[in-house]
Amino acid sequence: MPELDQEKTYYSAINWNDVEDAVDKETWEKLTEQFWLDTRIPLSNDLSDWRTLTQEEQTLVGHVFGGLTLLDTVQSESGMAMLRETVRTPQETAVLNNIQFMESVHAKSYSSIFSTLNTPTEIEEIFNWTDTYPNLQFKSKRINEIYKNDDPLKKKIASVFLESFLFYSGFYTPLYYLGNNKLANVAEIIKLILRDESVHGTYIGYKFQQGYKEQSETKQQDIKTWMYDLLYELYENEEKYADALYKEVGWEEEVKTFMRYNANKALMNLGQDPLFPDTASDVNPIVMNGISTGTSNHDFFSQVGNGYLLGEVQPMSDEDYDIGLTKK
Ligand SMILES: [Fe+2]
Ligand SMILES: [Fe+2]
Repeated sequence: MPELDQEKTYYSAINWNDVEDAVDKETWEKLTEQFWLDTRIPLSNDLSDWRTLTQEEQTLVGHVFGGLTLLDTVQSESGMAMLRETVRTPQETAVLNNIQFMESVHAKSYSSIFSTLNTPTEIEEIFNWTDTYPNLQFKSKRINEIYKNDDPLKKKIASVFLESFLFYSGFYTPLYYLGNNKLANVAEIIKLILRDESVHGTYIGYKFQQGYKEQSETKQQDIKTWMYDLLYELYENEEKYADALYKEVGWEEEVKTFMRYNANKALMNLGQDPLFPDTASDVNPIVMNGISTGTSNHDFFSQVGNGYLLGEVQPMSDEDYDIGLTKK
């Protein structure tokens, strides 16, 4: 081994054979195993269902997906970049790179849905609404402020709240339709997204817990207070958002139950006690049915959903290159 020159900067190559934290490797494997692209889902098969929806319902779907596009944009453009600044291991950087790319896939998926179901004028209206609607803008602004200015643990809290809580006011709609046997292909995309978000929230929550355990008791208490205050603040805004989105169709109270149930799950990912009394049995069973049936698996360690399997891979042999040649 050559002698190190103290004056020089050396770069460390990532070594996956020397993994400090097995969770990094497990998460990498899980995320790459469940890789998917929006272009492989036959969205146009949902057009006949789409035409049966009322005008109010179609507007709701458009706005809900506009809101989800914005959250995925925040995660892909600034969230992961900010979390990457304070990693504990080189493998964590690799996992965050994967997450960042998938957030771009998620954000793009909604545009595939729009181009299938909506007219260009409707798409324009959806993006104008998304880019200006106050309760929606509030969420992205608040989370982004934390990403830009706060300490590493607070950034992770914000990210888990986004992944495991804020998405669910929007996920409610496609899950509701799926539970009613409508828009099955749109829902397939949402379930693939939901399956990714579930891993993202668990992983970033785990990284938070590692750092949190190393803090003094006083500091832990400060972080805890800050975390619950932020959740209240986001929840209050989410209530207004749900009221505005869902009042036309009359689902606002059941959406709030679903939000509270998922807020508790976000806290669980961060290793904290639940805040709300709501449990899975309080959520509209049609929506829970939408989550549990069909193709994708919702929990962290299960395998790829049965509705979306990657092709079987075989190693190549010399004969594979004998294109157009007669076999000897
Ligand atoms: Fe996402
Ligand atoms: Fe995510």
